Amino acid sequence: MPLVCLTDFQASAQERLSKSSWDFIEGGAGDGTTKDNNVAAFKKIHLRPRYLKDVSEVDTKTMIQGAEVSAPICIAPTGFHCLAWPDGELSTARAAQAANICYITSTYSTCSLEDIVTAAPKGLRWFQLYMQTNRQLNQLLVQRVEALGFQALVITVDVPMLGNRRHDLRNQLDLKSNLLLKDLRSHKGINPMPVLQMSPIDSSFSWSDLSWVQSITQLPIILKGILTKEDAELAVKHNVQGIIVSNHGGRQLDEVLPSIDALTEVVAAVKGKIEVYVDGGIRTGNDVLKALALGAKCVFLGRPILWGLACKGEHGVEEVLNIIKNEFRTSMALTGCRSVTEISQDLIQFSRL
Ligand SMILES: Cc1cc2nc3c(=O)[nH]c(=O)nc-3n(C[C@H](O)[C@H](O)[C@H](O)COP(=O)(O)O)c2cc1C
Repeated sequence: MPLVCLTDFQASAQERLSKSSWDFIEGGAGDGTTKDNNVAAFKKIHLRPRYLKDVSEVDTKTMIQGAEVSAPICIAPTGFHCLAWPDGELSTARAAQAANICYITSTYSTCSLEDIVTAAPKGLRWFQLYMQTNRQLNQLLVQRVEALGFQALVITVDVPMLGNRRHDLRNQLDLKSNLLLKDLRSHKGINPMPVLQMSPIDSSFSWSDLSWVQSITQLPIILKGILTKEDAELAVKHNVQGIIVSNHGGRQLDEVLPSIDALTEVVAAVKGKIEVYVDGGIRTGNDVLKALALGAKCVFLGRPILWGLACKGEHGVEEVLNIIKNEFRTSMALTGCRSVTEISQDLIQFSRL
């Protein structure tokens, strides 16, 4: 049977992956409440279509941080792509380049940054940084990323320490012994640091340290994991260029707001001064439309990309991206939008149920 929607890929990926890999990809923190609510929250938003508009041509293109993407649907950073497909991030990068969208490469990539760039030299790429305790290593990584043509630095703020992931504890998952995190290992001639541990995240990193990152890079800085208006205001005050409203796919602090519900207060707080994006639970073209109606400039997909990768490698990721892009085009036409700039809050209504 053909795979025609993202959840078809989910079911097929589960059949192909080992239990521990599947649990690692799919699992949420704690009871999995936020993970499930991320998806469910979209279904509580209804659409208000407008008809008798000429939608014979629908344009899904948009701009993020000054670069054009074919649709406001890009790839969130996820680690360990080699768990899903042998050449891991290389396939993801090629599919992103073919789709003309942005791929945020994770600090925990299983292929080296150099190999990823070689695989897809023309792709729009941002780099996701987990701040390491060693400042010099962060600096070397940022400089390397900048030299390799990554166009933004995405600092993940919701992992001062790892969330409580019960599946991985039960499965005694040990990624470190199975996969090489090439970018965190010593890199001859470039990175004189010794091999790092698996979780060297700097849990002391705070707002006042952002200026240090700004002093070592020209790249725009985007904070990923903001969920409140208070932190959104601080982000603007600290002169970052963007926010990804995210709860890490429900993998960090369980029982926080679904990302789509947190989006509204963040958008209101930044008052249009910086771009706001969202990830978490986006599975259909309608979900994308709802996120844009609530003020997101673009959405990012996490697990669905790994499902595509697990099913068919590069072609699976391409199919996932094409399916949701086509669904989004249909959602736009059926609500009367010819371009993404016509997507407004009037198109949605929160359920009273
Ligand atoms: C298997 C997996 C690995 C992830 N690895 C990272 C990571 O390395 N860095 C990061 O900032 N977020 C990471 N995330 C979170 C994603 O960037 C994103 O916030 C989340 O997956 C979005 O939700 P969705 O999976 O429902 O689309 C990971 C998520 C998953 C599922």
